Amino acid sequence: SKGDFEHFMLKEIFEQPQTIEETFKGRLKPEYPDIVLGGLLNVFPKITAAGRIIIVGCGTSWHAALIGEYLMEEYARVPVEVEYASEFRYRNPVLGKNDVVILISQSGETADTLAALRMAKERGATVLGICNVVGSTLARETEAGVFTHAGVEIGVASTKAFTAQVTVLTLFALKLAKTKGTVSTEEYQALVKELAEIPAKGRAILQNSNHIKQVAEKYKDVVNALYLGRGTLFPVAMEGALKLKEISYIHAEGYAAGEMKHGPIALVDDNLPVIVVAPHDAYYEKIVSNIQEVKARKGNVIAIVTEGDTGLMGMANDIIEIPKSHPALAPLLAVIPLQLLAYHMAVLRGCDVDQPRNLAKSVTVE
Ligand code: M6R
Repeated sequence: SKGDFEHFMLKEIFEQPQTIEETFKGRLKPEYPDIVLGGLLNVFPKITAAGRIIIVGCGTSWHAALIGEYLMEEYARVPVEVEYASEFRYRNPVLGKNDVVILISQSGETADTLAALRMAKERGATVLGICNVVGSTLARETEAGVFTHAGVEIGVASTKAFTAQVTVLTLFALKLAKTKGTVSTEEYQALVKELAEIPAKGRAILQNSNHIKQVAEKYKDVVNALYLGRGTLFPVAMEGALKLKEISYIHAEGYAAGEMKHGPIALVDDNLPVIVVAPHDAYYEKIVSNIQEVKARKGNVIAIVTEGDTGLMGMANDIIEIPKSHPALAPLLAVIPLQLLAYHMAVLRGCDVDQPRNLAKSVTVE
């Protein structure tokens, strides 16, 4: 049931601190501090020996995969590729027994992802799953895997399944790095402890829902929106754009902020909202200059910033704060205001957010 919430999607957005905690259970051990991935114990030697990891998914799951790529390359120093299942399965990829293929799917029933799984298996790769549904086809056909414990997701627009996927990929990247010795014990332990603080920080963001609704009021009648981010927040920008597109039918694009000059800047005028994910990290100066470029062309900037950062006041039209976190963990927080922004804009436009037109919860046909 929806309980006190008007829609399943809103309920699921608000459940995220809890579903992240569920996904930590038995795995994140801040007291040691360590990470245990029981479902992967038998295959971990194969994973550490892999020459390459390929992560395959569709839609929101593909966005989670991209975050996984950044984290695994950064910490575990293993080459990672991310593929759309619908491309991977048809394009005769170079694939063999030294590859680990991770299939990622909320439902575990997406037709293209299952076809990619079968192809990878046939070619001798180690096939692992990250999935939310116990007993799904993906869970049954992979060699091993990690379940996301997001609970049943009813809203067609994926929210809590996404943050649970990113949680699993973060645990995986850090554990792999620790096992391979590519991260120092000190940094590893600090990250494990910081990860345990993410749910509380998520709860703080959710308390801002009303402020985000006020921002949504200002922009609800736009026809286009551009989302920008850098690093792991580039896939978060794409995920924010997908949420808006799916439930409000506003055309939205997510871009790597550095790519703005290479095309999308032509769209900027005084009608265009540009949602910039701009926490205080190593990319901050770069992203501030992107914001200046948008402002110089009279675009409207909605900036997602680190709590207490006053650097963008007077520059951004609207500011939404998120708590300070380690940059590697920022996607788990930064996506929440984007989900809420899409939700409120869609509701204000009178859209059916739980059952958006033309979309199915699980795409079991090609
Ligand atoms: O069940 P899956 O994770 O395999 O589904 C993949 C996509 O169909 C799904 O993420 C879709 O993009 C959602 N509607 C996103 O909100």
